[in-house]
Amino acid sequence: MEEQEIRKENMIPEESFKILLNLSEGIFHDFKNSLSVISGLSQLSIPKVESNDIRNNLRLINEATFECRDAIDRFYRSINGYYQKEKKENSIRNIIFSVLDMLKYKINDVNKGKTCIETNLSITTPGLVYGNEYELKQSILNIFLNAIEAMEETGGTLDINLSQVRDRTFLKIKDTGIGMQKDTLDRIFESSFTTKGKKGTGLGLVITKNIVEEHDGEIYVKSEPGRGTSFTINLPMYEVEK
Ligand SMILES: Nc1ncnc2c1ncn2[C@@H]1O[C@H](COP(=O)(O)OP(=O)(O)O)[C@@H](O)[C@H]1O
Ligand SMILES: [Mg+2]
Repeated sequence: MEEQEIRKENMIPEESFKILLNLSEGIFHDFKNSLSVISGLSQLSIPKVESNDIRNNLRLINEATFECRDAIDRFYRSINGYYQKEKKENSIRNIIFSVLDMLKYKINDVNKGKTCIETNLSITTPGLVYGNEYELKQSILNIFLNAIEAMEETGGTLDINLSQVRDRTFLKIKDTGIGMQKDTLDRIFESSFTTKGKKGTGLGLVITKNIVEEHDGEIYVKSEPGRGTSFTINLPMYEVEK
């Protein structure tokens, strides 16, 4: 009962989502049209210039437009998939890589300062599961974000371990950040609970837990103040689901 209420509170109402989707479709369309102009003109100009440097720059501009277009398409497909609640075979390994890609700017930002976050990956399985790609990404992203935020001041190590045990896929995300006292640990899955003041929403882990459980998964957490935290998610392997 309580969980149902939490779900309703945190999910974007269907109608607003539809409006957002339509709006973004229009924006993406315009954006892609402008990209076509940049791409077309840069390409047309390449044979017309003498300087090798400028020709090379034009080539780079042209390639960048393709990357932008791909990024827009990927983003649109994923929010559309979320809206459609489309479920399919997904690889947790691929999701980890795409989430790390989304977070590289955040990790780089920390690493520009005095501290450094090191990432260690140990992946021994593609981790095939059945589910909604956007939701799975979202649930894993929230844990990664918290881990990075926990190490922002001190730096540390982010250990990511993906393995398969019998018919389940296990993802363990361990940080060496600030850790949690027991009274915090007891409340992390409460809606709107945050220790980050205005910077936090206290929604990340509620959403993560809901998504994991909706995919017949489980989530566990261990933490020690000053030493770090580890989250473990396990999900049924795809073959078993079929
Ligand atoms: N890796 C972590 N290390 C330390 N504390 C954490 C970690 N992950 C979650 N927490 C605690 O759980 C709280 C709730 O997390 P979350 O639901 O993601 O909301 P938010 O990040 O907006 O505060 C955080 O405010 C923090 O106190
Ligand atoms: Mg968070």
